[in-house]
Amino acid sequence: MLFYMPTKVYSEPCCVEKHAGELAAFGKRAMIVTGRNSAKKCGALDDVIAALESSGCSYVVFDRVEENPSMETVMEARNVALAEGVDFFIGIGGGSPMDAAKAISLMTANPQEDAGVFYTPKVLPYLPVVCIPTTCGTGSETTPYAILTRHALRTKKSISHKIFPALALLDAKYLTTMSRTGLVNTCVDALAHLLESYLNANTNELNRICSREGLVVWGRFKDRLLAGEPCEQDYWDMLHASMIAGMAITHTGTSIPHGLSYPVTYELGVPHGRAVGMFLGGFVEAYPDQEAAQEAMALLGFGDTAGFHSYVTSLLGEVPVPEQLLRQGAAALLSDPGKLKNYPFPVTEDAMVNMAN
Ligand SMILES: [Fe+2]
Repeated sequence: MLFYMPTKVYSEPCCVEKHAGELAAFGKRAMIVTGRNSAKKCGALDDVIAALESSGCSYVVFDRVEENPSMETVMEARNVALAEGVDFFIGIGGGSPMDAAKAISLMTANPQEDAGVFYTPKVLPYLPVVCIPTTCGTGSETTPYAILTRHALRTKKSISHKIFPALALLDAKYLTTMSRTGLVNTCVDALAHLLESYLNANTNELNRICSREGLVVWGRFKDRLLAGEPCEQDYWDMLHASMIAGMAITHTGTSIPHGLSYPVTYELGVPHGRAVGMFLGGFVEAYPDQEAAQEAMALLGFGDTAGFHSYVTSLLGEVPVPEQLLRQGAAALLSDPGKLKNYPFPVTEDAMVNMAN
């Protein structure tokens, strides 16, 4: 068993302000990487700028990261970073800006490389990355993964390079400006990370410390999430579940629901958490080791897998996806053994298609 988690995590109120000195100590000039709006709206961008200014650290803001960032955006940001003499990165947002910050860091540290290097196994240095989550799904603040859109393949894929953030600063106040849909979708993504990690070929007693803890915490807020009435403590629990789910998948990887979700997101624009969530109930019900599936259900506070399935359906609604696209996604997983290596049982195309909704 192995447990390796080199990211330093602080989680507390006014986290960015309290750790301003540590944040600014990674270099002389930061690139703050965000999407177009949410980092501004939730107040995180202002907090980071104030923290850097109070410590005398200069910065440049790159706020053009789209949902499901493309390699093209990463390369554009890299050119800005090189021209501006940036020596560390601060990703603020959901998975898209945090993953983009990791990929930009890699490309900035290796100006001789082009985008072809993302999916080659070469070991390369990278510059320090700080992550500040403003959603509660991706867990990117505690994973070494960066998932980019590959237009040529019409899907999303994690780059080959492992880039752990040096520092993660967590403050639940940034979650409170999210829409109900955004909150539901990202919470379901974290739930998927926990379940796909718990029911995984790489699961063991050591990494289950993370998935187990996350499932218990997720179960605490599930009823208020469904009712659309989260309390203040729930936001902290959501952030905690998402962060610890990141640690869980760092050690196990994800499984079939994530694999099936990528073409659904690419072709239909279904948000990541919703695209993953539509396979979760079916995944758990069809999992051959029902003893393990029941353990996971009990940790979440569900009596059985059927109750869990109907909860997820009530939360997300049915996601309409043409069967042909589901078959295409399942066939793509079956054609690449590497993509199913985390699922410890044989599985057919029909079985995967039946996991939907
Ligand atoms: Fe995910």
